[in-house]
Amino acid sequence: MSVAAPAPLHVPVLLQEVLDHLPLPPASRILDLTLGLGGHAEALLARCDADSRYLGVDRDPEARALALERLGSDPRFQVLACAHEDLWGNPDFLEWMGTQAASGFDAILADLGVSTLQLKRAERGFSFREEGPLDMRMDPEHGPTALEWIAGQSDESLADALYAFGEERASRPIARAILRALDEGRLTTTRDLAEAVYTVIPREPAKRKGHSDPATRTFQAVRIAVNGELARLAATLESAVNALRPGGRLAVISFHSLEDRIVKQTLRRLAGIYDGPGRLAPQALPKRLRLIHPGGFAPSETEAAANPPSRSARLRVAERLP
Ligand SMILES: C[S@@+](CC[C@H](N)C(=O)[O-])C[C@H]1O[C@@H](n2cnc3c(N)ncnc32)[C@H](O)[C@@H]1O
Repeated sequence: MSVAAPAPLHVPVLLQEVLDHLPLPPASRILDLTLGLGGHAEALLARCDADSRYLGVDRDPEARALALERLGSDPRFQVLACAHEDLWGNPDFLEWMGTQAASGFDAILADLGVSTLQLKRAERGFSFREEGPLDMRMDPEHGPTALEWIAGQSDESLADALYAFGEERASRPIARAILRALDEGRLTTTRDLAEAVYTVIPREPAKRKGHSDPATRTFQAVRIAVNGELARLAATLESAVNALRPGGRLAVISFHSLEDRIVKQTLRRLAGIYDGPGRLAPQALPKRLRLIHPGGFAPSETEAAANPPSRSARLRVAERLP
């Protein structure tokens, strides 16, 4: 009798494309800004020689512990607890870089967003599919929970966040419904938040193909707001580019259009491509990057079918110029 293997806690997305487009010379220096469960890390390390070094950064203690369980016995691998936007002034990082990667990184990876582990753990409160406390913090040791964040909003500021971070067109009535539920003591769990959304956009009894749950956009927006996911993304990417050695590459995987827009615009600007209004001679913008496959990479049909969370992913890769 065969026993089914347990479902993996997170399947690395666009893995082959990452492996194909990141340079891994002898004695590679690799920085992973979103280590997660170390799926990309494991595959990259398998292609690196004994003199290589891999630094994985994550702000989620549970993810770091699982990555360490997986890769901690590899002497080339180290983990740092930090939000990647705070990395560039972190003394432990600066010391590590000074001793281990003084001439910069060959490869930097940022696989943005949440892991399947975070979504599946009901107690983390990320998903409307699991009943849990309204938390949604990637680092559960710092900052307000989703419930505390919502309690600090007005109708208007909540609606603005739902619109800006979730592209939710019904942001105003949904914000009112959420704050009404809070006032009436009916907002403590993820299901409560989803139910507040369904009072405005009813859920279809049988999910039609291509139709997402009406709570998807609200959950995305609250999660982005609680974790400040977009606020310093452009600055982080620019710092990452500065940390590459000439010929080194930055690979960024994003999972929704808001995130991808910031990645695309930042990389294009650093590649000297002007997207703003009016005319500006291209040479007016310094060229620090070369874009690899400017449209980016999307998952193959096979990957999207095998790992549905990968469907919305897009990988962008850029190479540091001398
Ligand atoms: C999509 S998962 C990465 C999965 C990983 N590539 C793998 O194959 O296992 C994203 C991870 O990034 C972390 N993360 C998200 N934003 C972060 C930030 N600003 N700073 C540090 N870690 C962050 C999350 O906690 C999560 O573990």
